[in-house]
Amino acid sequence: MEITVTSGSLEKVSGECLVLGLFEGEGIRGPAASIDRAMEGGLKKILSSDGFEGKFLETILIRPTAPVGVKRLVLVGLGERGELSADRLRQAVGKGTSVAKKIGTTALLVHCDPKLLAKKGTVTELAQVLVEGVLLSLYRFDRFKSKESKNKEGKEIKSCTLIVPDEKLCVDAEQGGQAGKAIAEGVRYVRDLCNAPANIVTPGYLAKEATLLAEHDEVQVEILERANIKKLGMGAFHAVTLGTEEDPKFIVIEYRGSASLKSRPVALVGKAVTFDSGGISIKPSANMDQMKYDMSGGATVLGVMKVLVELKLPINVVALIPSTDNMPSGTAVHPGDVVTTLSGKTVQIDNTDAEGRLLLADALSYAARYKPTAMIDLATLTGACVIALGHHAIGLMGNNPALISRIQGAGEACGERLWPLPLWDEYFNQIEGDVADLKNVGGRSAGTITAGLFLKQFVGEIPWVHLDIAGTSWYSDARHAYIPKGATGIGVRLLINYLSASAKRKKPSTK
Ligand code: BES
Ligand code: MN
Ligand code: ZN
Repeated sequence: MEITVTSGSLEKVSGECLVLGLFEGEGIRGPAASIDRAMEGGLKKILSSDGFEGKFLETILIRPTAPVGVKRLVLVGLGERGELSADRLRQAVGKGTSVAKKIGTTALLVHCDPKLLAKKGTVTELAQVLVEGVLLSLYRFDRFKSKESKNKEGKEIKSCTLIVPDEKLCVDAEQGGQAGKAIAEGVRYVRDLCNAPANIVTPGYLAKEATLLAEHDEVQVEILERANIKKLGMGAFHAVTLGTEEDPKFIVIEYRGSASLKSRPVALVGKAVTFDSGGISIKPSANMDQMKYDMSGGATVLGVMKVLVELKLPINVVALIPSTDNMPSGTAVHPGDVVTTLSGKTVQIDNTDAEGRLLLADALSYAARYKPTAMIDLATLTGACVIALGHHAIGLMGNNPALISRIQGAGEACGERLWPLPLWDEYFNQIEGDVADLKNVGGRSAGTITAGLFLKQFVGEIPWVHLDIAGTSWYSDARHAYIPKGATGIGVRLLINYLSASAKRKKPSTK
């Protein structure tokens, strides 16, 4: 979609359809008032006869009369001014966009006035938020639908023009709009990968996608095959790959955006189990089809790398994506098997369905070799996380309070929320091995924590956080206007927010 910015007063702008927010309990003020004046009080009349109050996410579609230049006006309630956050605004513009789409709009206009967020943000940030809301709400997964069923979805919105009140704001809004577009496209890319089935998105498919990034000078990609995985000593990851005939891949992507080449990277690690049947400890068949999204963590990391390249963030980042199917077969790992991880620690694989921590253990040890300033892993790791936090928060664990709070702050700021769980030593006896150093399951209690504590054994002293996205990377029903049902693409906005902030903090360490 083409994103542009223009300045001017709303009653004079001409076009197909304008989305405009109104606060609750403030009547018609500001730009809406100038439209009302042009309509000689007509807007006020419509709103009062309709009972439109501006309640959060309330919408009304209006056909303004001349001399107002737009053919359609979608008013969206923003709720009370004091309550408006960036995320509520994203939801509101998403709602307005859905209405505009339904009536066949192809060129969308969106009001972008820094007064909306008052002191909570600049016009750059506002433009970013609005474009994210527009693009994310328009997401549909129709890759496998025929032309006929695609046509039922109606016309496509091909452009979005942000209207700022003053010409001086154009440059900043343009910049924010382009950032919003890059980020939203990253999220949409991740949704596409996670919604696609396991017979399409295989480890090889993900590796190919990663290789495409290597076209950019700042990016280097290396793919390790099954034989390399074994030879390097990643015994835990290798064990998970034993049951599948689909070639596993260990994907390494290095992004060098920092001018200082020696600057230590941030390491991102993403679980990419392209299908999790459970292996010999096979899962029940109900909803097993959903386990195609067990590669969400890896997809998110891939999406983040794509956005980094677009935004050219001045930072070094290395991404590690261990990818495989988890399948039962005559060659699959048996429950009870003992393997040696890349770290040297041994693990007794009591349950082959607790496979995520096995491949992450080796990926984290591999990541540590880069001496990163921070390691962040994302994984659909435990069903227990859904029990603990439901679908509204990412499970957040780690070994460094400062990093934990930075990540949590980044999540609050972008509307991808996280909630901390402890990794106290007291939980360790649950994962202490009988015949090996560790076992890969810790019993029913605190399942998310024992999984996190297992990972902690492989990170050493490096500041690290683990994000359990099992409850947040997939919604069986739409959550709101900009998160439709299916894959959410969670983590892209969070990590980009975190990485932009670290690039700004700019503490070049060359150790
Ligand atoms: N991929 C699953 C976790 C999962 C469950 C993600 C539901 C999304 C939704 C993971 O590999 C798994 O199977 N975990 C087991 C661990 C158990 C065997 C200790 C689980 O949560 O049941
Ligand atoms: Mn599993
Ligand atoms: Zn899994």
